Amino acid sequence: MNPVEKSQIGKIDPAKLPVHVAIIMDGNGRWAKKRDLPRTDGHEAGVSAVKRVVKVSAQIGIKILTLYTFSIENWKRPREEVTSIMRLLTRTTRHEIDELNRNNVRLITTGQIEGLSFTRRQVLQSAMEKTKNNNGLLLNLALNYGGRTEIIDAVRAIAKGVKSGHIKPNEIDEKLFANYLYTAGLPDPDLLIRTSGEKRLSNFLLWQTSYTELYITDVLWPDFDEDDLIKAIVNYQMRERRFGKV
Ligand code: FPP
Repeated sequence: MNPVEKSQIGKIDPAKLPVHVAIIMDGNGRWAKKRDLPRTDGHEAGVSAVKRVVKVSAQIGIKILTLYTFSIENWKRPREEVTSIMRLLTRTTRHEIDELNRNNVRLITTGQIEGLSFTRRQVLQSAMEKTKNNNGLLLNLALNYGGRTEIIDAVRAIAKGVKSGHIKPNEIDEKLFANYLYTAGLPDPDLLIRTSGEKRLSNFLLWQTSYTELYITDVLWPDFDEDDLIKAIVNYQMRERRFGKV
């Protein structure tokens, strides 16, 4: 992995760093197709991009990096592709523990983790346990995640609370609601990057991205590198965030 040139990182204003960066990693399939390779090779190359981006995010001082790794809708892909993504996920998690610890990265997940197989859950839980005392980058893998499902899960939990009497309907506000989302306790993303040119949210962090700055690049995820991340952050830093005010 190439260390990032200091001069590149120097383009970033450390006082205006996005705290939370979220990424829709798209284009693995197209990357593979362009090379006449099976889609699974695209996902494999996508893992190398994940490693590059995690390392440079930790180096830059980003606090939270959320990666859209597997959506609820992704189960509809051919079975072999689903299996290969899941295998890559567990294999990478196992192999990268030492590297995550070396970089002071703490791993967490967001989504219906109970929908993954027992073995996959165990690998993830063990990695979370082994990295839980790290206080550098928080690497949040969105797994078996769907934004609408997340909102419905929150509504259900709140409705139960109202029924049992420990939540009063007029206590329900944005703050309370956000505390029932899978991302409870995390600040909303400041910057959302989507690779491979598609201009949609694809059911990702629907509630949390209300005021998030969007950055779309044509670069396919397996080609996304350190410089592409720096470019996205520099672009973000040129924007004026008004949050609805003048
Ligand atoms: C989108 O490309 C990519 C995915 C659905 C999978 C992302 C998974 C990885 C990069 C591997 C595991 C990750 C970690 C964190 C170890 P696509 O298949 O939708 O591409 P296409 O739109 O070109 O078909």
